[in-house]
Amino acid sequence: MTIVESCESQTSTTPNFPMGWYSVERSHQLAIGEVKPIKSFDRELVLYRTRSGKPAVHDAFCPHLGAHLGHEGRVIGETIRCPFHGWQFNADDGKCSHIPYCEDIPERAQLRTWHTEEKNGEIYVWFHPENTAPEWGLPDLPELGDPNWTTPRYTEHLVPAHVQDICENSCDPVHFQYVHKQQSVPQSEVTIDADGRTMHLHSEMTEAVYPGHLHATTYSPGFAMVRTTYGPGAEMIMYNSAQPIDRHQTFMRWTLIVRKEIEDFAGDDVMKGIIDGLSDDYPIWANKVHKRRPVFCKGDETLVTFRKWVRQFYLTSQDKKEIA
Ligand code: FES
Ligand SMILES: [Fe+2]
Repeated sequence: MTIVESCESQTSTTPNFPMGWYSVERSHQLAIGEVKPIKSFDRELVLYRTRSGKPAVHDAFCPHLGAHLGHEGRVIGETIRCPFHGWQFNADDGKCSHIPYCEDIPERAQLRTWHTEEKNGEIYVWFHPENTAPEWGLPDLPELGDPNWTTPRYTEHLVPAHVQDICENSCDPVHFQYVHKQQSVPQSEVTIDADGRTMHLHSEMTEAVYPGHLHATTYSPGFAMVRTTYGPGAEMIMYNSAQPIDRHQTFMRWTLIVRKEIEDFAGDDVMKGIIDGLSDDYPIWANKVHKRRPVFCKGDETLVTFRKWVRQFYLTSQDKKEIA
């Protein structure tokens, strides 16, 4: 008897989350003493900034009776205080440091604490399924704050897709013709650095309104920098960082800067063009499934390179099977 595989659904085929750094907020949107509930990696988390200015992220639910620390939790010095019975937890290790009505602090009174780093105007957490220490650092983005470049423009989008599928899009030159209505497939090449982790896409955008060379550097599935060069001194950079909310939704934070020389014609219009481009992708992303084993043809070389590259960000053999 032949056993027929059950039909694919969006939930049954989508992989877990790849390890790496992910943005959870922009720096200027978290004041000292501010506490926010956030959702990432299908988990409820709490984000806050201590009195000394350090951002901290923990699992949200208090180990005592389960109150959500992101709702009415309060920063007290370098700790966060639970709104329900006043237990306080250290920002750096999540250990309970004070119970207002008891001297003995239970051993297990501790919140899971996420490795947090603030850089390039954003607050990032390190995601690893086993909560181990970061295996690499965040890249420097020296053009941010450089006087030859404009001050950043920001845009944010909730995208109905898994973080890996959004990333895969950048290694998919063929969809530029069909989804983004370019007349032909841009000539593209994907390369990977000796570290095995940093991936580059080079694309000749000969048919864009302003033709140029596009160079996308992907540091991990949630973080990329796209540099477009139109000529000497005429450059624009889009930093693109992701916050996976769950397996089907990803919050994207984009930061655009351009060289001052071209600021008059590559500002708001360019940002609008990029946002319009994203809306072309939406209907595909919102309705597609994640194919564990896509049928590739010989012309899909860059996609095959992407799928081999992305495996390193998953740990379990089940996940590796799912994305292979
Ligand atoms: S639930 Fe947090 S202190 Fe009781
Ligand atoms: Fe696209």
